[in-house]
Amino acid sequence: MDMWEKITSLAKRRGFIFPGSEIYGGLAGTWDYGPLGVELKRNIKNEFWKSMVQERSDVAGLDAAIIMNPKVWEASGHLTSFSDPLVECKKCHHRFRADQLTEKKCPDCGGDLTEPKQFNLMVETYLGVIEGEKLKTYLRGEITQGVHVNFKNILSSTRVKIPFGVAQIGKAFRNEITPGGFTFRSREFEQMELQYYVKPDLKESMEQFEYWKKERMGWYVSLGMKKENLRFKEHAKDELAHYAKAAFDIEYNAEGEWKEMEGVHHRGDWDVRRHQEFSGEDMTYFDEETKEKFLPHIIETSGGVDRATLFFLMNAYKEEKVKDGEIRTVLRLHPRLAPYKVAVFPLLANKPELVKTAKKIYDDLKKNMMVAWDDRGNIGKRYRAQDEAGTPFCVTVDFDSLEHDDVTVRDRDTMKQERVKIGELGTHLEERLKQS
Ligand code: GAP
Repeated sequence: MDMWEKITSLAKRRGFIFPGSEIYGGLAGTWDYGPLGVELKRNIKNEFWKSMVQERSDVAGLDAAIIMNPKVWEASGHLTSFSDPLVECKKCHHRFRADQLTEKKCPDCGGDLTEPKQFNLMVETYLGVIEGEKLKTYLRGEITQGVHVNFKNILSSTRVKIPFGVAQIGKAFRNEITPGGFTFRSREFEQMELQYYVKPDLKESMEQFEYWKKERMGWYVSLGMKKENLRFKEHAKDELAHYAKAAFDIEYNAEGEWKEMEGVHHRGDWDVRRHQEFSGEDMTYFDEETKEKFLPHIIETSGGVDRATLFFLMNAYKEEKVKDGEIRTVLRLHPRLAPYKVAVFPLLANKPELVKTAKKIYDDLKKNMMVAWDDRGNIGKRYRAQDEAGTPFCVTVDFDSLEHDDVTVRDRDTMKQERVKIGELGTHLEERLKQS
């Protein structure tokens, strides 16, 4: 099995990610996050929010609507330019993205392909109840535009001054021609973005561009991604999106294949200029200090939450030889990302006094962190199950616990065990989680 298959299989088995609508045969490009996946994904989003909003004074948050007035998409250029080249096999009628093919023949049956046609990626939807009067609109193709249409609202409701940013996390939808690579290319996915407004000054905006490139790369590393598995890839001029003046991707090395995880883009004044033109609203910014009025330029960082989730899983996945040649599968997730921080076990499920003490510990710890409970099978198997879930610590209540008021704390990474007093357990775990 290659890494993609291993991750797909672990994700399903352990309840990280399931195929969407599976009992109906699935729906291409859609995925459901299970009990562990929802925690991992939420932890990633919380870390993004903490570093991009909570810990900064120059960034405000926003949560805009998914469905917007269709004029937004005319203005943003998505209705005319947000497309991929589509080719169809004349024999088997399978469809492909022309820019992803290396051969001129159909990769499935060797048949001849049609000439490429531009295929728009926006997902259409209709609002209203009266047939014939329904409004055709779109599920947003990027979360970005919700921020730019609120530029003036942010200015008038907060004290921000340029340079400042607006961060947002939310769903985006694209009618991808070839969804695939597990969650890598989905039709429904989540983005975590920053739109950072700067003066229309080339030198200053490029300094901000470089600053944000470094910040975002540093964020992935701070959460445990190995530096050697990350790189920047510059977009060539002919690869730039319709709005971009300069763009770099942060790529992850997925088993030898470099894959885009996040984009850092210099959008110039494209968005505000176009919204000013199309809406007729004045989108200029007045600088109190210099008394200048201008349309700001925008530096954007745009990450895929699902891609980050996938690559954090790949980055953490290890198969390690343990004693007697046994192999354990372990997710060495950063503790801040781990779905459960700790698991609590009574040594034996049929000893009420052990279960009672363990339940009390479980209930106490749950007030402050995500805690798993497991009382099935032998302890070795329970440790392995938590290793696969990425749980940093396991706490076992045994017969000594009843006499000495202490428990065994087992570390996921070193597999070392130590005894800790029950009264000190909460603080002990919080300290160790903080240190990691
Ligand atoms: N606002 C800019 C923007 O949307 P993008 O490069 O098209 O730029 C940004 O998308 C990020 O969104 C990508 O780097 C990727 O992580 C994620 N993304 C884009 N399309 C995706 C898809 N079909 N499935 C999953 N994630 C996707």
